[in-house]
Amino acid sequence: MKPHIIINFACSLDGKIALRGGKAYRFSNFEDLVRVHKLRDESDIILVGKNTINLDDPKLVVNEKYYKSTRIPDVAILDSNLTVNGNARVFSYQRSVVIFCREGAVATDFGSNVASKVLIRNSPDPILHTDFVVKELGKMGYRRVMIEGGKSVITSFISQGNWDEISIFYSPVIVGEEGITMFGDLKEPLKFERAESSILGDGFLIKIKKEF
Ligand SMILES: NC(=O)c1ccc[n+]([C@@H]2O[C@H](COP(=O)([O-])OP(=O)(O)OC[C@H]3O[C@@H](n4cnc5c(N)ncnc54)[C@H](OP(=O)(O)O)[C@@H]3O)[C@@H](O)[C@H]2O)c1
Repeated sequence: MKPHIIINFACSLDGKIALRGGKAYRFSNFEDLVRVHKLRDESDIILVGKNTINLDDPKLVVNEKYYKSTRIPDVAILDSNLTVNGNARVFSYQRSVVIFCREGAVATDFGSNVASKVLIRNSPDPILHTDFVVKELGKMGYRRVMIEGGKSVITSFISQGNWDEISIFYSPVIVGEEGITMFGDLKEPLKFERAESSILGDGFLIKIKKEF
């Protein structure tokens, strides 16, 4: 069964998801963090790209400061050549971390602090297609997938049509042209039928649902 896919990220008013050189910046305000951590709690697995792990080192857990829960969602990482940092914080929780890579990739040395169960899924193609990732996650029993970035992963899933909902939080900040844009190259503009907007503290949220 194909899982339900929610893409979620936060950006500046000029559509940047990180600062110059990919340096992370917290765009979410408290109200958005409450929403994000609730969404994490409701998700079976959180998916990110390898660069997000290596650059930002996120924990990808539900923080009780924002949402009360003891759940620790699983994590999926897209990493063709298995070059993810084996000592990243994401591996220090008791959960499954599924790494998608190409056939024949040589495993990263996962440090002795790894508490997670690391599951490797090899793609039959040299390039990881999101269809393969979604199909595998479905086969593994994941029903609700939350995608938290970064730019390349968001672009792949959206351009390949593998999404059901997109939530974008806009923070009242301008980063400038050297920041990292929210999307990479798209062959043509993507026009959505309808977008809902709401105010969230000092920022605003845009929600897009796929129309069937
Ligand atoms: N504001 C936010 O909400 C937010 C959230 C998360 C991240 N970020 C920012 O996003 C930036 C990182 O974005 P990024 O584009 O450099 O990296 P990314 O999307 O985190 O990871 C991209 C990497 O994933 C691997 N990959 C494998 N299969 C893929 C596929 N089908 N589609 C896309 N990627 C695939 C590729 O590496 P291999 O070729 O080695 O497989 C690719 O280079 C950071 O600056 C971070 O701070 C912002």
